[in-house]
Amino acid sequence: MTAKHAPVRFCLEVSPAPCVLVLFGATGDLARRKLFPSLFQLHTRDLLHATSRIVGCGRTRHDQESFRALVAEALPPSASAAERDTFLARFSYVRTDETDPDTFAHLGQHLAELDRIETPAPFNHLFYLAIPPSTYQSIFARLTAAGLLEESGHNSAWRHVLLEKPFGTDSATAAELDAFLQQHAREEQIFRIDHYLGKETVQNILIMRFANILLEPVWNHTYIDHVQITVAEALGIEHRAGFYEQSGLLRDMFQNHLLEMLALVAMEPPAEYSADAIHREKLALIRAIRPFPCDTLGDVMVRGQYAAADNMAGYREEPGVDPSSTIETFAATKLWIDTPRWQGVPFYLRSGKRLTKRTSTITLVFKCSPHTLFGTCEPDSLVLNVQPDEGMILNLQAKRPGPKLCMGELPLAFKYADLGDELDAPDAYARLLLDAMLHDHTLFVRNETIAAAWQLFTPVLETWRDHPDRCPLHPYAAGSDGPAAAADLLARDGRAWRPV
Ligand code: BG6
Repeated sequence: MTAKHAPVRFCLEVSPAPCVLVLFGATGDLARRKLFPSLFQLHTRDLLHATSRIVGCGRTRHDQESFRALVAEALPPSASAAERDTFLARFSYVRTDETDPDTFAHLGQHLAELDRIETPAPFNHLFYLAIPPSTYQSIFARLTAAGLLEESGHNSAWRHVLLEKPFGTDSATAAELDAFLQQHAREEQIFRIDHYLGKETVQNILIMRFANILLEPVWNHTYIDHVQITVAEALGIEHRAGFYEQSGLLRDMFQNHLLEMLALVAMEPPAEYSADAIHREKLALIRAIRPFPCDTLGDVMVRGQYAAADNMAGYREEPGVDPSSTIETFAATKLWIDTPRWQGVPFYLRSGKRLTKRTSTITLVFKCSPHTLFGTCEPDSLVLNVQPDEGMILNLQAKRPGPKLCMGELPLAFKYADLGDELDAPDAYARLLLDAMLHDHTLFVRNETIAAAWQLFTPVLETWRDHPDRCPLHPYAAGSDGPAAAADLLARDGRAWRPV
């Protein structure tokens, strides 16, 4: 039986309830690139309730027509006229201006009008803040002041808020933001997005690990030599100098995306498949990561910055970047997890901008057989391809065909793309929007996890700031695999990165 015809054995029930999605930042980049196309995917797959509505909010002036035209531009050219029309009919626009005291009253009136639409159950309201984090607090405070987050009096309908990262820039600012949010809403009402958790292969980690007897018994220090996680991007910082100069790669990628993937790969099995149980295990795992040795940080961490090469500008030449900037665009590290499962197993993580190509992979490299007949140790490995070419490869040793007895690597590869169109993976944002509408927190990040992640990385950021010599910034050529120091990090342990 081919994978294409494999029967489905387990499938969580999806029954969308009537929902009004209020989208702040509706005229922005994220809405155009990700949110409108993702909502359209949900619409065409019947995963939005027929009565559900989307209210765009932004500072730009739009009437309903011009706003719908803006949404239409973001839809795939293959969309049929009927699909577009029924989708666009869900949209309306309310101009919001934080400085105008009446703005939120208008929004409240509009929502009250929509609430009069006949639905099988009262509308839930989901507020998505696709806006700069510096404006979260003022929007949140105004939503609360206008009573828009109150759940009482709306039968069982809920009021949720979806937030985009970054959640603070270090331990102190994250705690400040969290205290503010907790003051205005219950934790259960808050959904914090890490879009990597919506990616198909990342979601597959739990099923792979805990549904296959072949894998879970070897998923530990007895059989695994080390683990590598790579998130490489070919792009530079594009038009985001203002953000990036304040952030850098560690804050942008490590504290969230890489750490979340690490937690899923390394956590203990949850007692049940529930958001709470999974969060508990992820949190326990992040708390078990050994703190970085800040006095000798250079031994376990490398930071780099791309320099001009092959007609590509260096980071310092990018428009809007300080020509003497020391912001890192690359980081690599070795870390240890102090749990019985992972004793003695190093985890190597790296991520960078302007590398050879865009690829995100998680690789478990196994130990050698205790006794080999063939005089050489070529370790097996399991590669989870997060993107592109979503899928996985199990590299085993096998006899090469031919008259001589020669051993070589045999990749057993599986690609999601080979499953065919009917299983076409939804965009990560489609998955996350759907889950937020289903009140499912499993793929969202909780405040405690964020605090634990900052506790790990804040001392690193402080060391870079106060003692830069302990972990110097290494330039690397744009379009390369990163600084040589990152290769040395593994070479010192007799290991090597898998090629980007
Ligand atoms: C974002 C970062 O969270 O993730 C970006 O802010 C980065 O800098 C992006 O480019 C990568 O996401 P993806 O899905 O393209 O791998």
